[in-house]
Amino acid sequence: MAPVDNLRQYLHSIRGLDHGSSRALPGAFYTNPQWTETESAELFARDWICCGRADEIPEPGDYFAFDLAGEPLVVLRDDDGIARAMANVCRHRGTTLVQGAGKVKRLVCPYHHWSYDRLGKLVAAPGIEPSAIFDPAKCRLPERALIEWMGFLFVSLSDDPPDLTSLLSPLADRLRNYHLETMRLRYLATETWDTNWKCLFENFMEGYHLSPLHRRTLHKVNPTRLCRHFPAGEAYLGYTVGFTTRVDDDQAGHPDLSEEERNTCVMFAVPPGLVVGVGSDYSSFVALQPDGPGRVKAKMGLYFQGDDWPDEAVEEAISLFQETMAEDKAVLLRLQQGVGSRAYEPGPLAPADLEGTCHDLHQYLARRLGGDPVEA
Ligand code: FES
Ligand SMILES: [Fe+2]
Repeated sequence: MAPVDNLRQYLHSIRGLDHGSSRALPGAFYTNPQWTETESAELFARDWICCGRADEIPEPGDYFAFDLAGEPLVVLRDDDGIARAMANVCRHRGTTLVQGAGKVKRLVCPYHHWSYDRLGKLVAAPGIEPSAIFDPAKCRLPERALIEWMGFLFVSLSDDPPDLTSLLSPLADRLRNYHLETMRLRYLATETWDTNWKCLFENFMEGYHLSPLHRRTLHKVNPTRLCRHFPAGEAYLGYTVGFTTRVDDDQAGHPDLSEEERNTCVMFAVPPGLVVGVGSDYSSFVALQPDGPGRVKAKMGLYFQGDDWPDEAVEEAISLFQETMAEDKAVLLRLQQGVGSRAYEPGPLAPADLEGTCHDLHQYLARRLGGDPVEA
């Protein structure tokens, strides 16, 4: 049987399993190239994938390029203030129109200067007249589904994506008073880590490692003993973690927060591509996707509640984030080495409060990819 079918069968066999019987995933899930292609095609090229924060493109004409499952996209705010995702592929001979981020009146292809307005409609094709094979009035960049949720931009390559806002509504209730949509981005980076995308996902989303691995950093703020798992939904999973000391009043986040919310971080994920750490005062996110079995591309950022953050407090938060992520990155490289070994055998997961989110991710994979093997 092909390795991909074996892995599908494994996922089929763990569907609906209790957390108490749940193990780490077998190594091939993290190392097999065909499996990563399957995940890319059946998860990342179909599901809603976070591509960034809405305030990366606050004004009409602001854009950023984003490649999703090998598809170049441009995410652009139109003249009515609506964020749109379009194919970043010229309708002449296919050059990508933009790279990075910026502001444009029109999208102009660098090659022969075909240009498109902010809705993706062709407005100029220098020297080429309409003909039987070319109707400029009908020529436009294909548009992809895009929604804005709590300040996050999600894009889907599916022609018929599910209603994500409804699927996330219990999570939205939990997050409402934090007002993520009004937090402002102050740090953004794109990195490539030498580990499988699920290693980064599971690492960000489990609290078991907070005290041991982050002994000198996060343990002092959010220790493992304060982690509490909450039930996953079809399109989300997560846990909460308290603080060791009460959060200061001067950067205490949105006034709608209760005392308990103010002193609780909500760690949530919208699988497969988004993991988020929500604090009352500021939050972090990582938007990730596979780049082969042993590499993950990650766009990460920090965003803050309120405009009165002094630069040094922002810098301090960025330093803590970078230091913590460096600790994670180093251990995930070692994890990737280990799961590729013949000696690796999947061990038991820690109790639900500590690694329930790993189990939730496995169950998401089981629901999405654990069908019976498809006959060739
Ligand atoms: S490929 Fe874009 S104008 Fe020719
Ligand atoms: Fe970590």
